Amino acid sequence: MFKDRVLSGMRPTGFMHIGHYHGALKNWIKLQSEHECFYFVADWHALTSHYDDPRVIETSTFDMVTDWLAAGLDPNQSTIFLQSQVPQHAELSLLLGMITPLGWLERVPTYKEQQENLKEKDLTTYGFLGYPLMQAADILVYRASKVPVGEDQVSHLEITREIARRFNHIYGRESGFAEKAEAAIKKLGGKVGKQYQALKIAFNQDGNAESLEQAKALVMAAGSISNAEKETLLGFLTGARRTILPEPQALLTPTSKVIGLDGRKMSKSYGNGIDLRETPASVEQKVRRMPTDPARARRNDPGDPDKCPVWTLHQVYSSDETRAWVRQGCTTAGIGCLECKQPVIDAINAELAPMQARIIEIEAKPGYVKEVLHDGCAKARRVAEETMLDVRSAMGLAKV
Ligand code: TRP
Ligand code: SF4
Repeated sequence: MFKDRVLSGMRPTGFMHIGHYHGALKNWIKLQSEHECFYFVADWHALTSHYDDPRVIETSTFDMVTDWLAAGLDPNQSTIFLQSQVPQHAELSLLLGMITPLGWLERVPTYKEQQENLKEKDLTTYGFLGYPLMQAADILVYRASKVPVGEDQVSHLEITREIARRFNHIYGRESGFAEKAEAAIKKLGGKVGKQYQALKIAFNQDGNAESLEQAKALVMAAGSISNAEKETLLGFLTGARRTILPEPQALLTPTSKVIGLDGRKMSKSYGNGIDLRETPASVEQKVRRMPTDPARARRNDPGDPDKCPVWTLHQVYSSDETRAWVRQGCTTAGIGCLECKQPVIDAINAELAPMQARIIEIEAKPGYVKEVLHDGCAKARRVAEETMLDVRSAMGLAKV
């Protein structure tokens, strides 16, 4: 039985902004107290598009991880590591490449999109085409069950699942598997065993997805069989095969409501963000300069919060009460825009103050971030190696 494991990664982009915090980090931090979590810096992924300026990758890595820790990722609860220090990711990526049809990679929507977006770069490389394959390896090498990501990563999770399915189909054959499954069904007991068989047929003959879910639940709840037998019965539901690489689920993080200061998506490359390290004076200045509903050209013109980027910040940072005050004041021209922005400025600064205090603490301990990553990498390599032992043997690679 595979563990309930969460895994996610970010390309090293340096200092984190409040969009990263509300769109991903806050969720990672919440998950670490509920699950076994692995979070990593995807520095190889950064190289797929930034192969020509490698120097920024290293500094960005340390800046980013410092911000992760300051925001509340806890190395005692989560395994925090660097992709390029865990060679098992590369090995699995190579091996999965043997069974991944080129067409699958060419059809991932981000492939063409990113080539369009980054026209000035030559992205007709082998590495860039392999981006989603490498991501699949990142996930499958930990046999992660849940992957918190944003909407934009859904197609990468989909291809990860397809690659896992294909891998299990090709390499999960095991002699005597069906006999083992039959024996486990007997141990389920007459009534439950019959239910299992009926649900298996309903799924395989009629494609009834609900039957599959019911059968899985039935197996998981069975008290009379071991974990190994449960695994056999789960694999047997979809074929006479063993699951070597389980299919992960995306844990969709709602697209961050925090949008950029200019109303576009908050992004480092647009220069429209508020960093976690932003000083209170700079937060104040940036928010005060933010555009508002263009209909409110003068103080006496009423406005509509739904047409104002500042409102998106109120949705993240303000209480119901403050939001009601904004709506009322804006639509009746009862408040001015600067007045409206003040509670947002105060809330952002209150949120950032403790993080900034931790950044100072962390940076006062030279080598600390390196140490965290060093320990995280060691743990990650141990877990990844367990998977690779199974993968190598399933693929017929001899051990000498
Ligand atoms: N592609 C992801 C992004 O751009 C980063 C990433 C790389 C990732 N490997 C991953 C995310 C594995 C989740 C799991 O955000
Ligand atoms: Fe935007 Fe607030 Fe001004 Fe209305 S009052 S336009 S919500 S800043």
